[in-house]
Amino acid sequence: MATFIAGIFLGVATILALDQRRHADGKKKRPPAGGMRSKHSMMNMTNITWLHKEFHYSNKELIKIGEEMQRDFAKGLASVETGHKAEIPMIPSYITRLPTGREKGEYLALDMGGTNFRLLKISLPGDGTTLIRSTKAKLPDSVLNGDSSDLFGFIAEKLLSFVPESVDGGKQYDLGFTFSFPVVQTAIDQGKLLRWTKGFKTKGVVDEEVVSLLQKEIDARNMNISIKAIINDTVGTLMARALTDKNCVVGLIIGTGCNTAFVEEASRVGKFSHMTPEGGFKKSDMVIVNTEMGNFSGPKLRRTRVDKLLDAQSLNPGMQFWEKMVSGLYLGELVRLLVVVFAEEGKLFLRGDLAEIWKEKGSLSTYTMGLLEADEDPELRVVEAILQRDMNTFGSSLNDRTFLKSICKTISKRAARVAAAGVFATLLQVQRKRVTVAVDGSIFKLYPMFHHWMRDAVEMMIQESGLQTQVEIVDAEDGSGVGAAAAVAALVGA
Ligand code: GLC
Repeated sequence: MATFIAGIFLGVATILALDQRRHADGKKKRPPAGGMRSKHSMMNMTNITWLHKEFHYSNKELIKIGEEMQRDFAKGLASVETGHKAEIPMIPSYITRLPTGREKGEYLALDMGGTNFRLLKISLPGDGTTLIRSTKAKLPDSVLNGDSSDLFGFIAEKLLSFVPESVDGGKQYDLGFTFSFPVVQTAIDQGKLLRWTKGFKTKGVVDEEVVSLLQKEIDARNMNISIKAIINDTVGTLMARALTDKNCVVGLIIGTGCNTAFVEEASRVGKFSHMTPEGGFKKSDMVIVNTEMGNFSGPKLRRTRVDKLLDAQSLNPGMQFWEKMVSGLYLGELVRLLVVVFAEEGKLFLRGDLAEIWKEKGSLSTYTMGLLEADEDPELRVVEAILQRDMNTFGSSLNDRTFLKSICKTISKRAARVAAAGVFATLLQVQRKRVTVAVDGSIFKLYPMFHHWMRDAVEMMIQESGLQTQVEIVDAEDGSGVGAAAAVAALVGA
């Protein structure tokens, strides 16, 4: 990352130097006088208007989407099935108590939900604070493209180097496993993977008991570690914040993928009805539900030509429509597809043919998209440097760059506002006076402007709909890791 940024600055510095030389030669073009627009910038205006029409949602439309989502929540909650067809699965986590903050002990957590995974040793001293030691590793392609024993064997090996003291009857640890995929749970420490999301395709895991697969590999290495809970990252994020905030009843992730969890009355969760204590649920019983709302696809979510293209080329066509508009795995790709469409229509990069790299799937990452969008230089020289350096695109005009930046902004703003509709849907569902929404994930934390746009849109929806909720949307530090420890501590801790 540091090298990347240094590279960009070097590129920009070179461009600035060239620019100064042009100044010195007196050859730099003067800007058009009197605010007159060039033909191309007029074209940009029309294109930008088109983009807005195609991708923008008004507050009213967002409210409608939120209401549609909430109706799907209710349907999913009432249903006892979590079949492959279920729109929004609404999976009970089997966590029926929020942490008090007084939990104590030392626990392991394993956080897997993207191509990186983390191992954490977490100490809870009993006052709501946490002490963390962690390490991160990348899942290599051989593992991602392999089978379940490649995947869980690799993770167990990393665990072995992280806590060597647990081997051969050594120190005993309880572990919370944050596995951020749709897992249909049958107990707090049991669940089968419903389907892969976020571009995963490791064989032999779908429909299998995930905890057993990992525990088997741990046992094979003679480690004294017992997996006590499997949780989703949204659930972990909620639990982590709940250690210190009793209004936290919603957890949200906006990273590679996108999803929410919230605290629900247990009696409203069809898939949890077999857990009814003898005489039926008490009014106060609750359970955290992992919505898996990335799969929402209500008709109010307009799918444009590029959304359809993206879906068709994805590993899970016809699924995860909300996620495909909002999350980091897809935003850069949507921009790339739009660039190709506009270039084919002769509206972008007119000087010469479009560089081949634009036609390669995944060639523009969401990270790079963020850098393009963040360029505030009047000549957009960072954009120019990135185009040359990463996208083999030379000789772009200022109009090209301005338009490209608008495309990025259009896609990220739509993502933030559509994400906000998801938050609004959870607020409609939980119906409380004060709600803290704990958020984790790289897009929310790092993408320029994203969290402002999302927060603004949520506030607007609350105001315009008259919902009586005061919401606080907070950044949850290390949510998915700490939450797993909190879940285990709430089960076994002092
Ligand atoms: C995907 C997964 C979901 C996870 C989310 C965020 O939507 O299916 O389980 O919570 O990504 O990581």
